[in-house]
Amino acid sequence: MGGKDIINEVLTLKRERKAVILAHNYMNHDVQVVADFIGDSYDLALKAMETNAEVIVFAGVRFMAEQAKALNYDRIVLAPDPNAGCTIADALDVDTLRRVREEYPNVPVVLYVNSNANVKALADYIVTSSTAVRVVKKLGSDVVIFGPDSNLADYVAHMTGKRIIKVPPSGRCVVHGSYTARLVKEARARYPRARVMIHPEAPINVLRLADFVGSTNQMIEYARSSGYNEFVIGTEIGMLNALRIKVPGKVFHPLSTGPYARCPFMGMVTLEKVHGSLRDLVHRVEIPKSIAEAIREAFERTRKLLE
Ligand code: 13P
Ligand code: SF4
Repeated sequence: MGGKDIINEVLTLKRERKAVILAHNYMNHDVQVVADFIGDSYDLALKAMETNAEVIVFAGVRFMAEQAKALNYDRIVLAPDPNAGCTIADALDVDTLRRVREEYPNVPVVLYVNSNANVKALADYIVTSSTAVRVVKKLGSDVVIFGPDSNLADYVAHMTGKRIIKVPPSGRCVVHGSYTARLVKEARARYPRARVMIHPEAPINVLRLADFVGSTNQMIEYARSSGYNEFVIGTEIGMLNALRIKVPGKVFHPLSTGPYARCPFMGMVTLEKVHGSLRDLVHRVEIPKSIAEAIREAFERTRKLLE
């Protein structure tokens, strides 16, 4: 099937199945073309809560589809490639988190949304890159258990001045965790007029060199409203698709085009796999109800804190 044919077929299947396609900002351009919503992790979790669709196709990695399932337990949620994981999510297991909880019994546990469902069910609060700093600031406690991303934990500690107990000590994103100060200096030399935006999953010494630190949606907003016209993008390279669709007329350069520029897991989710899962209603996300309820409670508790 050719490119146009498969796009048309996905659009037809979407109507027939009463489905909605939620796509992360990092998805391939052709997946973004068939999507109803394109956004960051927080935005897409909210969209998953609002939809009346009977089927949700989550074009992103597995933890995102699991989050959508936890918030929509009675709907069909499809993960077009169920093997699309995340190095941050896979860095933390239930036993490790339980041990740290026992060691610090009265300290709140804040988990990054990039966690697997069985682990996330043990969180008191669930944050994304766009909400982590605000949530930790608002908590009554000056000490917080935070994981699994070690770099985001450092950034939260820097921005809030609170004591952050990392769990585990070194969870990292395969893309952002590979950024170096040298990459930023080289990009500034190559594009002297560009503003440098970097995702908070990058190491703190790299974030200190950025003009703007934020989630993928916050980058789009900054690019749209800041009055600057040229940007270096310190995040996964698929983000350039979203920026070119959402902020036309401005110029974007990737911070890195090296071997870790593309997230191998995000890259696994193709238009062909979206088509196949929607056609056959396969790769349904299944998580135990008790886990879904715990995730939903922690997510709602976090939303209330942000109001
Ligand atoms: P955002 O929430 O900023 O979209 O980030 C998700 C992610 O996986 C970053 O690598
Ligand atoms: Fe996980 Fe990094 Fe890939 Fe995002 S870009 S899904 S954090 S490995």
